[in-house]
Amino acid sequence: MELPILREEALKLLKSQNPEEFDLIHYLMSESVMREVAVKLGEDPDYYGMLGLLHDVDWTITKNNVATHLTKAPEILHKAGFDDEFIQIVLSHGYGFSELPELKNESRTQKIEFALAASETLTGLIYAYALMRGRKVSDMEVKGLKKKFKDKAFAAGCRRDIIEEIEKTDLTLDEFFSCAIAGIAKIKDEIGLS
Ligand SMILES: [Fe+2]
Repeated sequence: MELPILREEALKLLKSQNPEEFDLIHYLMSESVMREVAVKLGEDPDYYGMLGLLHDVDWTITKNNVATHLTKAPEILHKAGFDDEFIQIVLSHGYGFSELPELKNESRTQKIEFALAASETLTGLIYAYALMRGRKVSDMEVKGLKKKFKDKAFAAGCRRDIIEEIEKTDLTLDEFFSCAIAGIAKIKDEIGLS
């Protein structure tokens, strides 16, 4: 699967919008988790990584009116040279969200869509857990993360049902947790974790 721009250019595009630091961290974590998931699934890590990096490409410019989130993404991505397939996968992470009028009645059907939605959602849980552990992710264990996953009061806004969509790919929840932790640990210095 061809990508029209390099990672550096994608990052430049995101940074040109002056994203909040936490949002940029979210994009980087989503990228890194998607890369690991791709390797585990035998898919293309560059393609999966680019989806993770750019999935919220219009968030900075739409966040003050959440109902418009993902309405600007197609134009931005199209202009950057991405094809309709890539754009549709980006949009699919908003499927089912009641806040998004255009997407709320759609549902994900493809492995790559489940992987993106589950990955970007799991980053929130791992980051929150890392903060609780004194910003430490390098020695985080699947067992501990699983406990937090089961504790619905912890990071309560983090949609467990979307994380569970990973089971519609060839990964188990445990395998997913393990490679997501590894993905985030790989970029720990960049995102202020240790
Ligand atoms: Fe996101």
